[in-house]
Amino acid sequence: MSKSTRRQFILRSATQAASLGLVLNGRLITLPPSLLPDPAGPNDRVNLGFIGFGIRGNILLEAAKETGQANLVEVCDCYQGHLERAKQRTEGKIATNFAQYKRLLDRKDIDAVVVATPDHWHKRIVLDALSAGKDVYIEKPMTYRIEDGPAIIKAAREHKRIVQVGSQWVSSEQHKKAREIVMSGKLGKVTKVTASYNRNSSTGSWNYPMPADLQEGVNFNWQEWLGPAPKVAYNPERVFRYRKYWDYSGGISTDLFVHLITSIHFIMDAESPKSVAATGGILYRHDGREVPDTLDALFDYGSFCVNMAGTFNSASTAGQGIQFLGTEGSLSVLLGAGMVEQPEYKRENYEYSIDSWPKGMQESFLNQDNHRAESQGTGTKPVPENLEFADKPDATVLHLANFINAVRTRQPSYETAEVGHHAAAAGHMVNLSYRSGKRMLWDANKGTASEL
Ligand SMILES: NC(=O)c1ccc[n+]([C@@H]2O[C@H](COP(=O)([O-])OP(=O)(O)OC[C@H]3O[C@@H](n4cnc5c(N)ncnc54)[C@H](O)[C@@H]3O)[C@@H](O)[C@H]2O)c1
Repeated sequence: MSKSTRRQFILRSATQAASLGLVLNGRLITLPPSLLPDPAGPNDRVNLGFIGFGIRGNILLEAAKETGQANLVEVCDCYQGHLERAKQRTEGKIATNFAQYKRLLDRKDIDAVVVATPDHWHKRIVLDALSAGKDVYIEKPMTYRIEDGPAIIKAAREHKRIVQVGSQWVSSEQHKKAREIVMSGKLGKVTKVTASYNRNSSTGSWNYPMPADLQEGVNFNWQEWLGPAPKVAYNPERVFRYRKYWDYSGGISTDLFVHLITSIHFIMDAESPKSVAATGGILYRHDGREVPDTLDALFDYGSFCVNMAGTFNSASTAGQGIQFLGTEGSLSVLLGAGMVEQPEYKRENYEYSIDSWPKGMQESFLNQDNHRAESQGTGTKPVPENLEFADKPDATVLHLANFINAVRTRQPSYETAEVGHHAAAAGHMVNLSYRSGKRMLWDANKGTASEL
């Protein structure tokens, strides 16, 4: 393959390839799993830096390796143990940087950064990276508070940089298929969406273990970790279990609901809810956490409503799933795990509503129009259909491949700053409503929310 042909080939989005589909006997068949582009040579690769190398940073580094499209240049973290792990994952090759991310941004040989710090750092690091001329993959939620969104969007435009937000499911073949089905009209008019994110375990409720060797001022930099957050005394619980505290996270809503919201926006082609109301509480996990362990939210999108729920106290119902309920059928999507389509079966139970009429009148009514058929049931007998989709490469690998593709082509990323802002803002509106007891209204012109 000539260099230019090869370059054209590697520039093709991995998920564009994934979305090829055809209809056979009325059923959507997806062609074999997307093939990631051929591994790029060292000069065609994007040079990546990693800022924040905890749970997610490690997954993203492995995903970057799998794309075959990135050079892993430098990693920055506030805990030396995480830097040691980065060395182990790269046969000692990656440069390490202890708690000085601006020095990583100063490197001219880094094209783009992958940011996976806790949320309270997102805006500051993204703005610094953009003004240093880097393209940015920022983990979800893009923002710690709604007001951060417009600032990031403006900076990305001014510096002409790519921003991609990290809700990876939108790059999955499953989500592309789900979107195709909803957009085709096959489900009729979708007026309602239900979604849930439930867990029931110790670490699943964010009580993650803490490394035994952690020593503040020796191998861990607490002041740098705190960054723009309020100054409080050193407390490792706040570091490794930061999702339990408002100073660093928005809890269930911005950590988990934001995935569901991003997916709903993608599959329904929606931008923002008009209003959000929420309720919830700390009903079981009385372990010092500030964020609720149970949360319910109602979103009004104008043409459809969303009912979203999450709890850390029971996971017997669908762990993380979304149901799109249409007039002609429904689609149930378990994030990355399965997808079931079910046609509606409409039955007008006239036997019930006219049984009090004299018999003759009942008969003549049933003989009118389509009443007898309606009474017996119309439509296809509901047989749920399991829809197949390729689950490899995994959504995070595809999402990073899409980011790298955007960096190369300078085309808008798959999940732009605007998309990330809208998804995170809807999550913030849930928390604002939960904490104030008020319904929150979205102001599309200002990109902010206010109380009703
Ligand atoms: N897309 C997903 O499925 C997914 C999954 C998990 C986490 N996340 C997101 O990734 C982000 C990180 O989550 P996590 O679970 O990896 O948290 P984590 O606590 O395991 O890792 C965060 C890391 O950031 C480091 N850090 C903090 N401040 C820093 C700074 N100024 N400079 C350099 N490093 C700094 C910390 O030392 C820590 O190692 C969050 O925004 C979270 O929402 C996304």
